[in-house]
Amino acid sequence: MASTYHEIYSAWESDPDGFWAGLAEEIDWFEPAEKVFDPSAGVYGRWFAGATCNTCYNCVDRHVERGRKDQAAIIYDSPITGAKRTITFEQLQAEISALAHVLRDKGVEKGDRVIVYMPMVPEAAIAMLACARIGAIHSVVFGGFAAAELATRVEDAEPKVIISASCGIEPGRVVPYKPLLDRALELSSHKPVANIILQREQLACDMIEGIDFDYAHLVGEAMAAGVEMPCEPVAATDPLYILYTSGTTGQPKGVVRDNGGHMVALKWSMKAVYGVDPGEVYWAASDVGWVVGHSYIVYAPLLHGCTTILFEGKPVGTPDAGTFWRVISEHNVAALFTAPTAFRAIKKEDPDGSFIGKYDLSAFRTLFLAGERADPDTIQWAEEKLGVPVIDHWWQTETGWAIAANPVGLGQLEVKYGSPTVPMPGYDVQVLNDEGHPLEAGTLGNIVVKLPLPPGCLPTLWQADRRFKEAYLEEFPGYYKTADAGYVDEDNYLYIMARTDDIINVAGHRLSTGAMEEVVAAHPDVAECAVVGIADRLKGQIPAGFIILKSGVTKAPVEIEKEVVALVRDKIGPVAAFKTVVTVDRLPKTRSGKILRGTMQKIADGLDWKMPATIDDPAILDEITDKLKGRGIGA
Ligand code: COA
Ligand code: AMP
Repeated sequence: MASTYHEIYSAWESDPDGFWAGLAEEIDWFEPAEKVFDPSAGVYGRWFAGATCNTCYNCVDRHVERGRKDQAAIIYDSPITGAKRTITFEQLQAEISALAHVLRDKGVEKGDRVIVYMPMVPEAAIAMLACARIGAIHSVVFGGFAAAELATRVEDAEPKVIISASCGIEPGRVVPYKPLLDRALELSSHKPVANIILQREQLACDMIEGIDFDYAHLVGEAMAAGVEMPCEPVAATDPLYILYTSGTTGQPKGVVRDNGGHMVALKWSMKAVYGVDPGEVYWAASDVGWVVGHSYIVYAPLLHGCTTILFEGKPVGTPDAGTFWRVISEHNVAALFTAPTAFRAIKKEDPDGSFIGKYDLSAFRTLFLAGERADPDTIQWAEEKLGVPVIDHWWQTETGWAIAANPVGLGQLEVKYGSPTVPMPGYDVQVLNDEGHPLEAGTLGNIVVKLPLPPGCLPTLWQADRRFKEAYLEEFPGYYKTADAGYVDEDNYLYIMARTDDIINVAGHRLSTGAMEEVVAAHPDVAECAVVGIADRLKGQIPAGFIILKSGVTKAPVEIEKEVVALVRDKIGPVAAFKTVVTVDRLPKTRSGKILRGTMQKIADGLDWKMPATIDDPAILDEITDKLKGRGIGA
């Protein structure tokens, strides 16, 4: 099929409001919008101002009313526990309604926040949708974060209720969640009125009388009583959720997502970007704690009337490198979306792809990759072994859906390895130099998006308009700064090369080296430190810390290094994958005292590096090179 991408992109360019108004017809509104886009509202304008709607109604109830009640809405497949469960749209509606009733009973009203701190179980998605049903704002916190990170989010979001579970399960170990939650609540000055805890059979937890309530008991009671909680009309511009993501400091950014624009953009993306029809099975192998999980495990597939897979496992080791193919075959998955790192892990375990032949993958049409740069080797391996198109696409927590993609539903465009292809309608992507002037094709620069951002993207940060402007809008007036650097080629294909800030990407997880430095610097024996992201064959990048010890410290450096590793795990969490610390005598700095992190990173990666003209003392770089060599890192 010839691609209609160019026509559709032009249609958006010539009449953006008409374009989005047309797509809004796919959504059921209680009241239609007074204005498709109101440039005078919010920080840079608001989408579907004046409209009222409910995201849960559009994800669930309307499908029950229109012939999908017996279709599977969620298939929970958990190779790590051996559990499997299929939930139809009708069953999903009943359980969401019951939990929504429980939340209301605990005093949760429209606009109140609810933190969801859960592993990959269906109750996590049910919790999100129950909040949406009553107009409460959920904030999901990824299970691999430590108590201190959870506490920061509790402090900022001020949740009325927290929904959590007794434990998560990682290969070889059960992760008790409840002690992490209890610790977070000790650290936070804000306290919720109730914690609703899902007790899992792998590890039950102690409950605190009057504060902790049993999920199954409360929801079971509400279901037995046959309670029905109607969908609360909310403004299209009201927040659906807050999702915290790494910023350049230890204080994460609370990305806000609205209800109306989010639904319009995600619904459109399912057919146009992913080429999937209602009734088909869609699988995003991510975690509900990340934006991919929000958009493509929960909201988009359900908005579109698809069956979504909720997978609790890893691409390898649960039990083997054939798990993905088993799930695709068993549930007739049409499209899989995951991070390249998952495929690097599979390729490492099963380089010949011998597991693939054991399964019938005839329903499987397309593999989508995002979250980090997709290296051409991995793409080619997947294409060759699976025999389906492999589509890289680029987006961010802030945007909620693809900025650039190869929209297979509009007819696939040529794949160019290393490029996530072209901008989606709604995104006028440009490459600017540091002074804000457009750069010509092929020249590396700052990737920005002309305002307004399309529906679905963040309107602001939670209670922090000022920080939103400073972080994203002020450096290039009139544009949103993606903080990614890259270029476009002569066909307008985008190439995303690196971040322009201190964010690193570890196994598709976004982490701030600045936040890690804050933790490392707090170790009593550390005088000064730097954390940089170094290349890793499996995870893309991993953090490496360089520390200078305070004078007079007598403890062995190796002991302190171990303590620093433990400290980051304790304060940020295992997800940081912070395992490398090197004690050095000095850090390389410019004459004005700025640490030369970029040069240290190049040395650690074994890349060519130039002596920075502004360096204070060039000999320090040789010292660092020697130290790293001693650790088997770098050239
Ligand atoms: N709860 C508690 N701990 C968690 C966790 C969770 N939800 N998720 C991860 N962790 C822990 C892991 O157990 C691991 O701990 P360890 O240091 O004790 O081994 C650590 O955090 C790092 O986890 P992870 O990044 O998952 O690395 P891994 O070595 O366990 O697995 C991959 C590597 C490639 C298999 C894994 O990263 C993966 O499946 N990636 C898929 C991509 C993905 O989901 N990306 C998300 C954005 S799309
Ligand atoms: P997150 O907010 O966690 O989704 O991370 C967003 C960041 O991940 C982006 O700003 C990029 O740096 C990186 N990223 C995501 N997708 C891609 C991709 N397809 N290619 C290159 N980098 C990507």
